[in-house]
Amino acid sequence: MEINAKSSLLCNMYTPQEEIRIYNQAKQLLADNAGNMNEEITLLRETINYADWKYYVQSNPTLSDAEYDGLFKLLKHLEEQYPELVTADSPTQRIAKGLSERFPTVSHLTPMLSLDNTYNAEDLTDWDRRCKELAKTETITYCVEPKYDGASISVIYDNGALSRGATRGDGVMGEDVTSNIRQIKAIPLSAPLMQYGISQIEIRGEIVIHKNVFEAYNKQRIAEGQSPLANPRNAASGTLRILDPTEVRKRGLNALLYSISDYTLAEGFEMPEQLKTHYDSLQWLYSMGFPSPAKEMKVFTHIDEVIAYCAEFETRRDDLPFEVDGLVIKVNDFALQEQMGMTTHHPRWAVAYKFKARQATSKLRRVEFQVGRVGTITPVAKIDPVHIGGVTVTSVSLFNEDVVREKNVRIGDTVLVERAGDVIPYIVKPLTELRTGEEEEIKFPTHCPACASELEKQQDEAAWRCINITCPVQVVERMIHFASKDAMDIRTMGNSNVQKFYELGVLPDIPGMYHIDWDKLKGQSGFGAKSVTNLQAAIEQSKKQPLYRVIFGLGIRHVGENTSKILASAVSHIRELYDWDIEKLSTLQDVGPKVANSVVDFFAIESNRDAIDKLDAAGVNLINEHKGQQPAAGQLTGKTFLFTGTLSHFKRSDAEAMVEQNGGTMLGGVSSKLNYLVVGEDAGSKLEKAKKLGTVNILTEQEFLKLVADNEG
Ligand code: IVH
Repeated sequence: MEINAKSSLLCNMYTPQEEIRIYNQAKQLLADNAGNMNEEITLLRETINYADWKYYVQSNPTLSDAEYDGLFKLLKHLEEQYPELVTADSPTQRIAKGLSERFPTVSHLTPMLSLDNTYNAEDLTDWDRRCKELAKTETITYCVEPKYDGASISVIYDNGALSRGATRGDGVMGEDVTSNIRQIKAIPLSAPLMQYGISQIEIRGEIVIHKNVFEAYNKQRIAEGQSPLANPRNAASGTLRILDPTEVRKRGLNALLYSISDYTLAEGFEMPEQLKTHYDSLQWLYSMGFPSPAKEMKVFTHIDEVIAYCAEFETRRDDLPFEVDGLVIKVNDFALQEQMGMTTHHPRWAVAYKFKARQATSKLRRVEFQVGRVGTITPVAKIDPVHIGGVTVTSVSLFNEDVVREKNVRIGDTVLVERAGDVIPYIVKPLTELRTGEEEEIKFPTHCPACASELEKQQDEAAWRCINITCPVQVVERMIHFASKDAMDIRTMGNSNVQKFYELGVLPDIPGMYHIDWDKLKGQSGFGAKSVTNLQAAIEQSKKQPLYRVIFGLGIRHVGENTSKILASAVSHIRELYDWDIEKLSTLQDVGPKVANSVVDFFAIESNRDAIDKLDAAGVNLINEHKGQQPAAGQLTGKTFLFTGTLSHFKRSDAEAMVEQNGGTMLGGVSSKLNYLVVGEDAGSKLEKAKKLGTVNILTEQEFLKLVADNEG
């Protein structure tokens, strides 16, 4: 009964009425948790599965993180009380118990072949001709979909339940990574396949990592002194083989399932209609909750249309949240695919169209050692200018000494440089075969290049650090950070002004920002009365910033924007944090021992307390009036919104609540004060006015949801 109710819902995945019902259900469940336990647990599971589907498959979240966590905790709590009601496909059962010892090797039901490649229109025309010869027909329908750049997997569902997930391995045998696959919320633990008589199915796909998730993860690794991961592809395949599933869960993997490689029908069932063409089969998978590229596939009947689409798609490859290294063109009709068959390496009915390489080679001329805000020394390779993916690259970070040693890269080497979309350029490897013997080892400095203090390296850290807090580069970097957009947002201050003011002696440290001797600046080029007034106004304005921005601006090691919000919301004045010890700090959400240690160290330093006193005396806000409340997320804070036109993805009142929950403000009309206009269908004069103003960001409903999701994430 429970399965049936759920299955019928999943099959329609989801009508607008159901979306509203589940959304209301979530609200209700959060508000009160009385009632029939079995029913309540079923509803909770349905709601969480739905939220996962909206978030991971549709990239269109319905619940805030706090709401989601609330429901999840409630379900876990109820299942603990009623263990007899736990089912294998409950979202709580994704969390594996303990570490995997190693991954057993398993056979794929059908071998995982690779694809032949094409690179241009001519290759595609040739391939089309060969297809027609093989298929003995002049008309073939092709399906075109993105070629995701991640790690290949195959998943098997038995009687509608996820039973196995495996890596590609050598194509015949892979590694059984089921426990890790279960951590990927885009992959449903169960699906209504039995309704169609599918007792077993093997589906192929790609595990991918969002570019922004990847960048955030690498940032965190670098901040913690670890080596960053090379690119989203390596990150995805490396993560799949991590032995600790809870670590896998934290990495936020996603998945795209792009082909059905095998299936078995239960007795008495006929092959479903949807299994006649590739296009229909992926739409069908999507309708059952699988993350297939249903929305990103196109069907064409002529190769010239395919070629035009490939060229057009390549221009917007960077707009996708994942890395895509090409497109895959597949013969749509399964019967025809069968007839065309395969070679030992690849199917004859599919081909990859590869985008232009995002890799290039260049010469490494020298290495500069840069000093960061917290004293970290970063080696930066200076290379001959090289054009990669529309950008000229001249500097590439080598991150830390371990990375330099691991890569065995030397000055004078020809290096292979990769740039994946927005992801920062990266040295893949030196081309050692091109070495002449003239190359030189990269020597790490023993003393700070800015202040000559001896560098230190802490245990477990890969980075060398200058620990002199008066080191001039660090002082300037700290002030730049304090004034930056996400901290005190002192517009017009800018990096070069901070540097200049410091050199002129009018800005010695962070509190000095509020005591600049403006007379001394008179006569300096670029400092007319107007720019001084603007800067003074921006500095004055910053005194009213919320406490979390001050905390973030102080640049405490390991304390990012989110942690700053958590710290700020736990106190009513910054000085309360002086008495917090590691134990107390560790009770806060997301605050681990490393962060706690760093916070304690920071507030124990006399000069830091002095700086806070000086900020206080200057009138900077150090108070949080909303102690204990959920911190409002930052990106929308101070931003203004207006909705116009007919909204089809959400109710206007819900959307307005979403803005306010995230710190934004609603406006009544279009004016120069408006930051975002979200437009539904048939938007009229407001849209025209906003376009005319030219200062308003115009968003679709989807873009708005993404903005909110990014903001919450
Ligand atoms: S079809 C027999 N479709 O590209 C059909 N592959 O060499 C084989 N890939 O590592 C694959 N996106 O994992 C197909 N939409 C897509 C794909 C795709 C990425 C990967 C695949 C394999 C490589 C092919």
